[in-house]
Amino acid sequence: MSDRYIDFVNSDIGRRLVGAVGLPSPARLERWQPGRLRPVEGALLLGGGALASTVAGFANKLTSEVYVQGVSESPLPAWTAGLGPKLKALVFDASGLADPAELKALREFFQPLMKSLARSAHIVILGRAPQTLSDPQAHITQRALEGFSRSLAKELRNGGTAQLLYVDPAAEDQLEGALRFFLSPKSAFISGQVLHLGACGDQVQDWTRPLAGRKALVTGAARGIGAAIAETLARDGAELLLVDVPQAEGDLHALAARLGGRALGLDICATDAAQRLIEALPEGVDIVVHNAGITRDKTLANMTPEYWDAVLAVNLQAPQQLTQRLLESGTLGDAARVILLSSTSGLAGNRGQANYAASKAGLVGLAQAWAARLAERGGSINAVAPGFIETHMTAKMPFALREAGRRLSSLGQGGQPQDVAEAVAWLAQPGSGAVNGQALRVCGQSFLGA
Ligand SMILES: NC(=O)c1ccc[n+]([C@@H]2O[C@H](COP(=O)([O-])OP(=O)(O)OC[C@H]3O[C@@H](n4cnc5c(N)ncnc54)[C@H](O)[C@@H]3O)[C@@H](O)[C@H]2O)c1
Repeated sequence: MSDRYIDFVNSDIGRRLVGAVGLPSPARLERWQPGRLRPVEGALLLGGGALASTVAGFANKLTSEVYVQGVSESPLPAWTAGLGPKLKALVFDASGLADPAELKALREFFQPLMKSLARSAHIVILGRAPQTLSDPQAHITQRALEGFSRSLAKELRNGGTAQLLYVDPAAEDQLEGALRFFLSPKSAFISGQVLHLGACGDQVQDWTRPLAGRKALVTGAARGIGAAIAETLARDGAELLLVDVPQAEGDLHALAARLGGRALGLDICATDAAQRLIEALPEGVDIVVHNAGITRDKTLANMTPEYWDAVLAVNLQAPQQLTQRLLESGTLGDAARVILLSSTSGLAGNRGQANYAASKAGLVGLAQAWAARLAERGGSINAVAPGFIETHMTAKMPFALREAGRRLSSLGQGGQPQDVAEAVAWLAQPGSGAVNGQALRVCGQSFLGA
């Protein structure tokens, strides 16, 4: 569904009117276009501690324009506020900050460049996970980065985003994959997020087709976010098995044919669902995306047992049971990537959605509970929590709720199915085993439960 307000505020007359009366003015976000090769088109600035030099080692693969600030003995050109080009991407290594007094390095680095950011600029701050540090001062200092990065994200304008990545020393070889995602338009609708990267033995071989040779299963793929996930995984080289209810088989077969994949009409709650999937995947599966989901909204006072049961069965019990059966049958291969479609409603709670929110919070629990078991075999399991995404599901919402859902976020708009699909495709990559048992919000830094 189109967002007419964004079209309006980005027109000449709209820009003048909105500016004059002080209404929010969401930017048109830059998104990844087919055929694009470089993650960053424009100037990338590196600053801070030793990890900035690590990033400098591969930064020429991200963009042709790399600058540094305060990085000693770097052969790269220095960037000077007021003189240098507008910045499209920034990486600041704060991992060496070990005392709260040293946090002033953040202000000193970011303050002079806040007025030199290009449209849709992407910022990544690097740190060390506080729980991995034995020194209390260092723990406190690294934890402080969360508040800083989330506030920075809220201050950015023109479609800018900021994230914090806590990088274990053993995960530094996975920084390239993470930065290729978070500095590029693939993460256009993700902001204010904090992720922890741990060790991962796998690497992407070919960045133009990072999922080449991987077999992927996507449920609920006939339309909306599931269809976008299918398109994006196919773009990145995966072989697809697409699943949706038998009533949606027409659309499902058409999509599978276009993407060179296979389609299977199947209700994921059917008693023989796991068996039929195992039979349809005789050579196993490397990527499983549990996307199928339903809403049956009612306040608790009016919630029927049928509404409760249907939502819990599709959204939580089926992903749990299917994952378990695929794992036990050996269909889910080593180094598997399992991605669960949660929701910001699950993280924050939402009036009239007690059943849906319980199911979506349960999926975060599923990722946490199974992470260690998958990691034993080089696998990972994570939740992606979309906020307001423009699909059939949100088009059904009453107008006022829909407008609130769109505007109550730092980016001031709904996301596109592609935004969720890009996050799923990144988590499906071989090197993304560095992220495990976590929830990544794709919500434009929605104020819901943020
Ligand atoms: N749209 C949003 O704003 C939003 C926000 C947060 C989370 N999500 C989640 O993202 C996922 C996709 O959402 P969407 O907006 O594309 O929804 P959608 O309703 O457009 O598509 C969901 C698909 O799942 C399929 N499905 C439902 N029950 C099934 C079953 N029992 N077996 C097989 N397939 C089944 C449907 O037929 C449909 O094709 C869902 O899990 C949803 O909860 C969506």
